[in-house]
Amino acid sequence: MTTEQQYGPTSYGEELADIYDDWIVRLQDDTEPTVRFLADLAARVAKDTGESRVLELGVGTGRVALPLAAAPGVEVTGVDASAEMLERLRGKPGSDKVSLVHGDFVRPDVRGPFGLVYIVFNTLYSLATQEDQIRCLAGAADLLPEGGAFVFQGFVPDAARFEGARQSGQRMEVARDGGTRLDLGIVHHDPVHQHMHPRYRLADPAAEREHTVRFRYVWPSELDLMARLAGLTLERRYADWDGGAFTGESQAHVAVYRKTGPVRP
Ligand SMILES: C[S@@+](CC[C@H](N)C(=O)[O-])C[C@H]1O[C@@H](n2cnc3c(N)ncnc32)[C@H](O)[C@@H]1O
Repeated sequence: MTTEQQYGPTSYGEELADIYDDWIVRLQDDTEPTVRFLADLAARVAKDTGESRVLELGVGTGRVALPLAAAPGVEVTGVDASAEMLERLRGKPGSDKVSLVHGDFVRPDVRGPFGLVYIVFNTLYSLATQEDQIRCLAGAADLLPEGGAFVFQGFVPDAARFEGARQSGQRMEVARDGGTRLDLGIVHHDPVHQHMHPRYRLADPAAEREHTVRFRYVWPSELDLMARLAGLTLERRYADWDGGAFTGESQAHVAVYRKTGPVRP
């Protein structure tokens, strides 16, 4: 298992690529509404900007990129730091339709423009510093034409709940499918640096695996400000991929930004 100091952009794939699709995706699957939402947005953006190329930051095993690349008129590129995750993607039908780039998504080695850049499934939180998160959004914005869209999806932080779960040591069941269970406990929470490390335990009758994820969570308003620094303006925030209203009770959000250029206060 990777120690705190060694944990980096490749660690997630090194530890989880072999079980990502069978366990993590199967137990928390929201792929269908994700793809529907992104395909609709890509079509709208293509009309507005003439640009039908889209880019996924942290493409992983292609959960979203592969079905999205099958949508009419959408050309998908994906960046990922993990050779293991990309190898899984390359082994799947339709992978020849996705252009893949092996590298860090903070400074993706790709040539724009893309009409849409997206980062989903809490993946922005895998960057450990606010500085890298700001750089990531700025880099994404650089690849968009005026009117192009940037989409983020992730959980809404709840520092009191994280702290309570860390102190109590209680595990929460996240999902269950037959005999397979996913639960998590919070092993580290630092509200000053907004670091939260959930330890996932995946268990089925044949095997049990644990993996500690290192997140730096971002408040929705902080994300809007990072976006604004990058010349991206919030178009709409939803509670989910079905377009549910975002409220104070929402536990996750999908935020859509458009490149507007600098907006003076
Ligand atoms: C939770 S998975 C999400 C995969 C995919 N987006 C999905 O929704 O199924 C996060 C992905 O981000 C990749 N990743 C994490 N940090 C990265 C970085 N700094 N640069 C590039 N990829 C990174 C991991 O290798 C992993 O494939």
